[in-house]
Amino acid sequence: MSKTVSEIIASLKGKKDLRILFVCLGNICRSPAAEEVFRQVVASRGQLDEWTIDSAGTGRWHIGQLPDNRMRIHARRRGFELTHHCRQVKEADFDRFDLIIGMDSGNLSDLHSIAPTPEAEDKIVPMADFITMATRYDHIPDPYYEGAEGFELVLDLLQDACENLYSQLTSR
Ligand code: 4NP
Repeated sequence: MSKTVSEIIASLKGKKDLRILFVCLGNICRSPAAEEVFRQVVASRGQLDEWTIDSAGTGRWHIGQLPDNRMRIHARRRGFELTHHCRQVKEADFDRFDLIIGMDSGNLSDLHSIAPTPEAEDKIVPMADFITMATRYDHIPDPYYEGAEGFELVLDLLQDACENLYSQLTSR
């Protein structure tokens, strides 16, 4: 039987050198932002050299590109400089990472189809499970066809979820 998100997080709690991969569709808006927001949370606790933090997309349209300019501008206003170059998620990522976090239900079902084994599937969790703020969203909504509000919403949700993800992984 597959593990629950709480069981997955509990199994990683306190582990050194955690390797975390954030995944969205294009890897130019939500997941590179999540990667940088989470990196800053870890850095602020002085543990950056012990963690591997990366992002990838299920799609291949933007491979090699920097994040979407709109995402970079909104992120920069909050102190996040997005320099990730888009890459597509691959089967080997299930060996390289301990935790693979999808932004919405489409990303999550794509990840489940890419995962090579049931054990690999037990690394996949929804980012929305870490949201603590009051919101009507049960996923991190795709901002690509939205205006400024969509990008700000993504950053609000990611900042909240990243703080909680970090504290769940490190609390005793
Ligand atoms: P992301 O947003 O999944 O948050 O990076 C998107 C970026 C590009 C596309 C879709 C979503 N696209 O269709 O090109």
